[in-house]
Amino acid sequence: MMTTTHLEHDTFRAALALAARAPSVHNTQPWSWRMGDSTLQLYADPSRQLMHTDPDGRDLILSCGAALHHLRIAARGLGWDSVVHRLPNPDDPDHLAAVEFHAAEPTIAALRLSQAISDRRTDRRRYTSWEVPAAHVSALAAAAAECGVVVRDIEDSWARAQLVHAFERAAWQHTRDFGYGAELSRWSGRHAATVGVPARSAVAATDATTRPFADPGLPQAVLRDTEGADRMLLLATAGDDRLSRLRAGEATSAILLTATMFGMATCPLTEPLEVPATRAEIRDQVIGDSGFPQMIIRIGWAATSSEPLAPTPRRPLDEYVHRL
Ligand SMILES: Cc1cc2nc3c(=O)[nH]c(=O)nc-3n(C[C@H](O)[C@H](O)[C@H](O)COP(=O)(O)O)c2cc1C
Repeated sequence: MMTTTHLEHDTFRAALALAARAPSVHNTQPWSWRMGDSTLQLYADPSRQLMHTDPDGRDLILSCGAALHHLRIAARGLGWDSVVHRLPNPDDPDHLAAVEFHAAEPTIAALRLSQAISDRRTDRRRYTSWEVPAAHVSALAAAAAECGVVVRDIEDSWARAQLVHAFERAAWQHTRDFGYGAELSRWSGRHAATVGVPARSAVAATDATTRPFADPGLPQAVLRDTEGADRMLLLATAGDDRLSRLRAGEATSAILLTATMFGMATCPLTEPLEVPATRAEIRDQVIGDSGFPQMIIRIGWAATSSEPLAPTPRRPLDEYVHRL
């Protein structure tokens, strides 16, 4: 029988600081945690929703799901396994999860995955044309499947062309959306502080798959290959409710951390999923109506000559962790 354990305050503050290393849309970090004697409660913070970029709050829930998965991996590395009750309060949709813990010796695999939390960066540069082994893609898909999420490897050139077309249409739509543009400049560039995408993490857009953050200051990768290459993974869920989106966020984290453990570069991409028409187009033409597209992850190998990426900032712990 599983017994809930009294939380060790300092251990869990350490785990929560690692959980905050999770990726989030425009680095909004839209979560808050309440720390009880024996549980951690995860809440969405609707005040941090990007109303123009993410009008239906999908990216916000995905970001919280990524933080939930990061928390579990961090805790496991510190010797605590967890049990999660998702959406435990039907009267409060922002209460996303209640997490209980029990002591468990960490395995080597758990320690390696936990280390990946600190190593991971969103890498927006071009990747080399080195092939991504099929076994790696299978391992990433298996990590997502554990969260109930299906991964489609967009290998087929026709499907890839449809996906790129959706990126182009969404980017075009966004150039005409004043609210979207204002939000993008407010959340990126030199104004970024403990939140937002700093100039040093953004590259000048080379095509529509790169979101054009303000003041891009990261040099593009110098590649010896005539052409860079990457792979696009599309994450889809059977439903499109809050739980499905939370699970898709957990799967996003599982894929990013597993890929980081393999030494790969990764970049989450959601722009064409933020525009209803292009999201519908991707659902219809790229995955043939099988499920709801939630996230696109670009994976590949960074050029060996590329500079290591600086970590993006995070808010101080006391801003998003509160005692119950
Ligand atoms: C739901 C979600 C959507 C995102 N969409 C994009 C995107 O479209 N383009 C992009 O370059 N980065 C995207 N990101 C990455 C975030 O900008 C990044 O996680 C954040 O700036 C923190 O940086 P880090 O991941 O390097 O820690 C997204 C992340 C999440 C979780």
